[in-house]
This record gives sequence, C-alpha cells and structure tokens, in this order.
Amino acid sequence: MLKVAIIGTGYVGLPTGVGLAELGNQVVCVDKIEDKINKLNQGKLTLYEDGLEELFKKNVKSGMLKFTTDTKSAVEDADIVMLAVGTPPHPITKEADLKYIYAAAEELAKYLTGYTVVATKSTVPVGTGDEVEAIIHKTNPKADFDVVSLPEFLREGFAIHDFFNPDRIVIGYESEKAKEVLLKLYQPFVGKCQFLCVKRRSSETIKYASNAFLAMKIHYINEMADFCEAAGADVREVAKGMGLDSRIGAKFLNPGPGYGGSCFPKDTNAMAQMGKKYGTPLHLIETTIAENDNRKARIGQRVIATIKDHPQGKIAVLGLAFKGGTDDCRESPAIDIIKEMIKYSRNIMVYDPKALENAKSILNNTVHYAETITEACSGADVAVILTEWEDFKKLDLDHLKSIMKSPKIVDMRNMLNGEDVIKHGFQYQCVGRKL
Ligand code: UDX
Repeated sequence: MLKVAIIGTGYVGLPTGVGLAELGNQVVCVDKIEDKINKLNQGKLTLYEDGLEELFKKNVKSGMLKFTTDTKSAVEDADIVMLAVGTPPHPITKEADLKYIYAAAEELAKYLTGYTVVATKSTVPVGTGDEVEAIIHKTNPKADFDVVSLPEFLREGFAIHDFFNPDRIVIGYESEKAKEVLLKLYQPFVGKCQFLCVKRRSSETIKYASNAFLAMKIHYINEMADFCEAAGADVREVAKGMGLDSRIGAKFLNPGPGYGGSCFPKDTNAMAQMGKKYGTPLHLIETTIAENDNRKARIGQRVIATIKDHPQGKIAVLGLAFKGGTDDCRESPAIDIIKEMIKYSRNIMVYDPKALENAKSILNNTVHYAETITEACSGADVAVILTEWEDFKKLDLDHLKSIMKSPKIVDMRNMLNGEDVIKHGFQYQCVGRKL
C-alpha cells in the first residue's frame, strides 16, 4: 500500500484517485474549490463517469479515499504526489498554460517530508518536469524528491474502464528510485499491459504525439470520406478495408463532423506550438488543426444549402456534446457548426439528451432549445445529427416524417440506415457515401 496525494479533482484526478484507492492505496484528493470538496465529502460526485459512483462510494466508506482542501495534510505523509490540475490553452498563444501546475508545485514543495515522488499526470509540454523540479527545489532546497512524468490516456465517459484496462503505462523518469516507487504503485497491472519506462522528456512527448496522431487519423478518414462521396466509394467499406491491416488498425476510423473535446484540440495546438518553439515545424499537425476547423464551417454551409429554397426554414439539430455518452460541450464540433449556421439562420432548434445545459451557456439565445426530439423536429425543414447518441439510431421515421415540414436528414455521424431512411421518403445525406 502506498500513500498517494492527488492535486486536482477533475476528469483526470478524480477517476485516477478512485482507481488507485480501489487498487489498495491510501488516497487523498486535494482541490482548492471548497464547494467541490464539501460535495465529495458528503458522498456526492462532482462529475459523471460510467462506473465511478460505485467505486467512489465503496472506497470513501472503507476510508481508502479522502478529500481535502488542505494541501499540507495530504502531502506531508504521501509517498507519491500527483499533479492533475488543468493545463488549458493560453487564449492567445494556444500554448498549454502552466500556471496551475507551477502554483501547485510551489505549494506542495513547502510540505514535502521524507522521500516523495512528484508525478505529473496533467498533459504538459516537454520540459515541464524540469521546471517543476526547479520550482520545488527553489521553494524547499532541503526536500528529498524526484519528479516523474506519468501521462494518462483516459477517455471521457470511459475513464474507469480505461483506468483498469490500460493499453500501456508510461513512466518518464530520471531516477531509478522514483521508477521503483511507480512500478510498485502499478504492480497490479504487471502482466496485463505493457510498461514503458523512458526518459522524462520522451514520456511528456508520448502523450502529445499520441493525441495528435489520433486527431490526424480522424482527420484522415474525414478527408477520405469527402473523397469517397465525390468518387462514388463508400467510406465505411474503405475504413473496414484499411483497418484490417494491423499496421493501421480499425479504431478511430469513424468519419464525422470533426474531432472535438477537451483534449485533441488543446493538445494538437500545444504540440504545434512546441514544434515552432524548437524550430521543427509539425506541418501534418498544423494542417490537421486548420482543416478540422474548416470542416466544421463546411458542414454548417452544407446544412444551410439544404434549405436554400426557403432560407427562413427551421433547422433541427440533434446532438450538441462533442461525442456520445457525455454532457461535455467543450470544443464540440456541433457547437462550431451551429455557430456557422447562425450566420445564415435564426430559426435553429437544438436538442441533446445530456448536454443542453452546457450548450446553453455557450450558445445563449442564438438558438431555441428543445426538451425532446419531437419538439426539435416539429415543423423542421431539415434535421441534422451531430452527436452519436443511441437514441438517434432508434428514430421513429414515420413519426418524424409526419411532424417535419420537409423530410430531410443530414446524418453527420452515419447513425441511420440510409437506404431505410430514403424508403421512408426522406432526402438523406450522410458522411462518406452518396445515396
Ligand atoms: C481523448 C483520448 O482518446 C484519450 O486517450 C485522452 O486521454 C484524452 O483525449 P476524449 O477526448 O475523451 O479522449 O475523446 P475520444 O473518444 O478520443 O474522441 C475525441 C473526438 O474525436 C470526439 O469529438 C469524437 O467524436 C471524435 N472521433 C473519435 C471521431 O470523430 N471519430 C473516431 O473514429 C473517433
């Protein structure tokens, strides 16, 4: 059993804390936001993740998982202190903003006692480990510590699943002693996944290089989808054929409205900035960023084109979250597509089973909000699917046709059986094939 303090209780810190407690470690999660800690101490979760609640309650009850605003009490006893605070993009430079990491490093430094490993879980630019080390050393020259990079690869909505079923565990270290402590922490995964112990700067790069590669992979299949539509091929068949090559792999080849979320846009931008900083421009990543943005604008135009004969017509938008299974609208392609359509139409009604409240805080009164699919589509001239919610797969097409003004569907997630939709008398467009 190790004693672990985790600074930051967001989408990374909280699932990681719960997971490590479940593995038998004594975990204390720290956050500056008192309200958050109060809620967690009352047994209330502050974010939704599939499977999180059960493990959270179990480990709070057994005393293995605790929450506090007091960094000192959490850190002074800890064998490992993990930094899991936000690294949002700087509004102007788009570089990762490290002010929360540096502030946390300075604060925790004061309370280190005995040998402690400080592990960076947040996604941080190459060289941040060196900076954190320097800050701690400057604040507390007597501290006995090592800094490691410990990137996380959890997907939102699947964080608990991914925590217990990692593809790999990457440990970026500069001292054998620190590496041994982390190997002890992750001992339960020995034999279950690959371990990669590398230089700290390599580890920091692995996280960005992986996310940027996945973003490029998605953008690649999106471009192939456009090509297939023009060339008379079917992107679903093309993706299948590509994915059967184990060097390519079948995952992340679903074309759609572009990638979004709290990681890919932020991390691709940060990586591109790092490339510039080191004088090694990353052209593939730069192009991916620009073209992923252009794609969203083009899709907005594409929907608008479907109502060119009656420009005042109602547009129903189904799906606002950046992907299915979450209420998160951060950098959601749906939001950017709507922002493009707003330039041409003020008759847009949006629906999402989970993300309506979050979308309201971004889109305000520029669109109308519907509580149900039926409300969104009633009297609509076109319905556009932008997030892959299971509910949209089960659309009652007869009912939809009876309530829409003109039966048109633009399916940007390839959710529906196009042939069936057309049989029901709709005009139908999807991604990567023409019907
Ligand atoms: C991602 C990484 O997958 C995860 O490893 C990292 O730790 C955090 O960033 P997440 O942002 O939760 O996770 O979402 P993910 O499931 O990867 O999807 C990202 C975006 O790509 C979404 O907008 C999604 O709709 C889109 N996507 C994904 C596609 O358009 N097609 C695909 O085939 C896969």
